[in-house]
Amino acid sequence: MFDLTGKVALITGASRGLGFAMAQGFARHGATVILNGRNAEALEASALRLRETGAAVHTSIFDVTNSEAIKAAVGKVEAEVGAIDILVNNAGIQHRQLMSELAEADWRRVIDTNLTGPLLVAQAVSPAMARRKSGKIINICSLANEIGRPSIAPYMAAKGGLKMLTKSMALEWAKDNVQVNAIGPGFFKTEMNTPLVEDEAFNSWVCERTPAGRWGDPEELAGAAIFLASEAANYINGQIIYVDGGFLSSM
Ligand SMILES: NC(=O)c1ccc[n+]([C@@H]2O[C@H](COP(=O)([O-])OP(=O)(O)OC[C@H]3O[C@@H](n4cnc5c(N)ncnc54)[C@H](O)[C@@H]3O)[C@@H](O)[C@H]2O)c1
Repeated sequence: MFDLTGKVALITGASRGLGFAMAQGFARHGATVILNGRNAEALEASALRLRETGAAVHTSIFDVTNSEAIKAAVGKVEAEVGAIDILVNNAGIQHRQLMSELAEADWRRVIDTNLTGPLLVAQAVSPAMARRKSGKIINICSLANEIGRPSIAPYMAAKGGLKMLTKSMALEWAKDNVQVNAIGPGFFKTEMNTPLVEDEAFNSWVCERTPAGRWGDPEELAGAAIFLASEAANYINGQIIYVDGGFLSSM
């Protein structure tokens, strides 16, 4: 049920962090993975790490905010590797600043990357899925879809928007047998969160506030992604699965 043999999976922002961990999980379950990123060197180093484990890995360089570059890259992948069965919209950025000091450009950058990016990549990938009457799209949301804290307004707005964009995609593409779901990670130890992990007070707060008593390991996100990408999830559509050590259920 969870076998991904013969499937082609495109994961955006996959040279490191959660994207890389999901790519690794997909590859272990038999998929051919396409790592996306903007930096050719970082991407190739990550692809090499995966290939050393025996995985079938390709890279695709594009910025998720650039629709022309996305269309060209997706066309190239479809021609050279094959039809994309699984898309994970994972690329994302954070910008921590109080709204009173927030510049318009920073607001737009976060919304463009975290909300518009997933739309643009899904628009490029979904027509071929619709033609083949088969596809899985997984959007990487956040706890910030539901709750937040001061200083991350653009991120909360973008991820909250991505939650509802997931449902919109699910509604429009269900007829084509494309399932669109999301994963909301809790606090995971990745480069994005390095400043938070290194902040002693914040680190203790995460460990105390999370019922599991610790940060998540990026590899612990892969299970939910494999599940949603597999045939086991063929009748699951428009859902958000939180992988958070119990965080959202706790006061
Ligand atoms: N780490 C966490 O605890 C956590 C929690 C909730 C949600 N998330 C979400 O998970 C996703 C991955 O986060 P992460 O922690 O692995 O972060 P990360 O910073 O380690 O990785 C994000 C990747 O996306 C890439 N990227 C950024 N902008 C891009 C663009 N315009 N085009 C292509 N690639 C781009 C970055 O270069 C990087 O490789 C993000 O969407 C993030 O918001 C992470």
